[in-house]
Amino acid sequence: MAQSIPEQAEAALAEAEERLSAATTVDEVKAIDTEFLGRGSTLSGLKAGLRDVDPDDRPAVGKAVGEARSRIEALVTARTELLSAEERRAMLEAERLDLSEVLELPAIGHHHPVSRTWRRLEDTFVGMGYTVAEGPEIETDWYNFGALNLPEAHPARSMWDTFYLEAGEPGTVLLRTHTSPVQIRTLLAQEPPVYIIAPGRAFRVDTPDASHLPVFHQIEGLVIDRGITFADLAGTVDTFVKALFGDDRRTRLRPSYFPFTEPSAEFDITTADGSWIELGGCGMVHPNVLTNCKLDPEEWSGFAFGFGIDRIAREQHAIDDLREFVAGDVRFLSQF
Ligand code: PHE
Repeated sequence: MAQSIPEQAEAALAEAEERLSAATTVDEVKAIDTEFLGRGSTLSGLKAGLRDVDPDDRPAVGKAVGEARSRIEALVTARTELLSAEERRAMLEAERLDLSEVLELPAIGHHHPVSRTWRRLEDTFVGMGYTVAEGPEIETDWYNFGALNLPEAHPARSMWDTFYLEAGEPGTVLLRTHTSPVQIRTLLAQEPPVYIIAPGRAFRVDTPDASHLPVFHQIEGLVIDRGITFADLAGTVDTFVKALFGDDRRTRLRPSYFPFTEPSAEFDITTADGSWIELGGCGMVHPNVLTNCKLDPEEWSGFAFGFGIDRIAREQHAIDDLREFVAGDVRFLSQF
């Protein structure tokens, strides 16, 4: 038996309800809307069929069809609202650009402890009236040795195990074994009085151990003026050590030998626990060095020194082994 119009309206409503609650997009809801309420839809057909209904029954049947229609309309509206809110939320989420959120601060590095000591040394000497000079790391035999009063085959050359480069005549181009060639370059380039320091890298064929690195840092000092004496040298190194480490440090000079200074001394300071450590060499500039730089030793005199920057940094931070400085271990370096 055929369904009555109210039954068909009821069935259409039930189907529409089910389809709408399964719809996941606003577009789907629109399609269902058209299908159930639009032209040619079941409900439109039922409405048209009202003409054939008995006039007595027509109001009740018409009411049933109208109610089914308005129920479906209400469901469409509700579903559309819900889905469009969801779609909007999803779109906002997908297009979100959070420009403010910082989950973790980027790691900020700092200077290497040796660089920091280097800078402090420069500051200390600049504060004492010195200027900073520079020279190349690749040197010629003459600047590194010859002009410093070590002619070829001088036995003292064995004090510096030298890296020679395959350039020029064999044995003439090398990695500087100390910063002392900057003394020569400075004296050839500028008239005395000279008060300079020259920090930089130096190289020696050395097996790395706790107190030696084949690539290391030195700071050279050179003073040339009238009437400079050994007392000025002793006073200068003492002043600098106290400025750098504090007033309780003591310094001492021990007789030594360098071809480019006469007299020469080894320079020691007391450590935090009171023992002595060697920082470097120093002495009065040898007259031959002055002559090699076209200066009259009768008129000019001065002193020079060369200290290991890495050793000073090691002492400042009470580090046992110089090799820590070049191992590149961030856990070590981030302590400073
Ligand atoms: N150049 C010497 C060295 O490397 C140190 C030094 C510098 C000694 C200046 C005297 C004067 O060992």
